Amino acid sequence: MTVADDVRLEGELVLLRPRVDEDLELFARWHGNPDVRHWLHMSEMPEQTLEIERQRWQIARNDPTRISFVIETLAGEPIGNIVLIGVDAAHRRAELGIAIGEKGDWGRGYGTDAIRVILRFAFEVLKLRRIELITDADNERGIRAYEKCGFVCEGVLRAKRLRYGKPLDMLIMAVLSED
Ligand SMILES: CC(C)(COP(=O)(O)OP(=O)(O)OC[C@H]1O[C@@H](n2cnc3c(N)ncnc32)[C@H](O)[C@@H]1OP(=O)(O)O)[C@@H](O)C(=O)NCCC(=O)NCCS
Repeated sequence: MTVADDVRLEGELVLLRPRVDEDLELFARWHGNPDVRHWLHMSEMPEQTLEIERQRWQIARNDPTRISFVIETLAGEPIGNIVLIGVDAAHRRAELGIAIGEKGDWGRGYGTDAIRVILRFAFEVLKLRRIELITDADNERGIRAYEKCGFVCEGVLRAKRLRYGKPLDMLIMAVLSED
């Protein structure tokens, strides 16, 4: 799904703008950081290259159910990305993905603010009803940020993924528009 290139969603700490082709190297750098990959499904994938990132983006940018934003500080510094995946107009729901790629910016409130901004967009502009996400069960920073935004844990997905070859539980969390 595309949103107009000039869409800007502003929060208290961050601004969201649509991801563009020119962001490729930024994403390759973020996803190339093992500390960031640790928390993503990418922990099991071969080392990140610009070519792999390009292929991923080719698929993502042509997916009509995906809306990808870059998270910038209000000073205009790109620090990560946030995305709605599987936007389903029939059931009015989507899945949320987020990564602050600049590790030094973790724990500074940017993630929480970006999520609040995209939820407002999802509920008020897209008229969605339910946003869900899955997260590693030991991602305490992420879980805390999601709870602050109204997400509620709905269950444990046992041994949902592998991290460095070891099975890892994940949580499914969701927030409804009426929450
Ligand atoms: C998860 C992520 C998006 C959260 O964004 P963030 O900007 O770091 O989070 P925030 O600063 O908005 O909020 C984090 C909260 O967790 C708390 N926190 C930080 N580290 C923590 C820890 N180790 N244990 C428990 N809580 C922690 C913070 O104090 C804050 O809560 P508070 O406001 O009540 O004090 C970001 O850290 C990130 O991208 N991490 C790497 C990739 C990732 O995990 N992606 C999500 C995959 S599901």
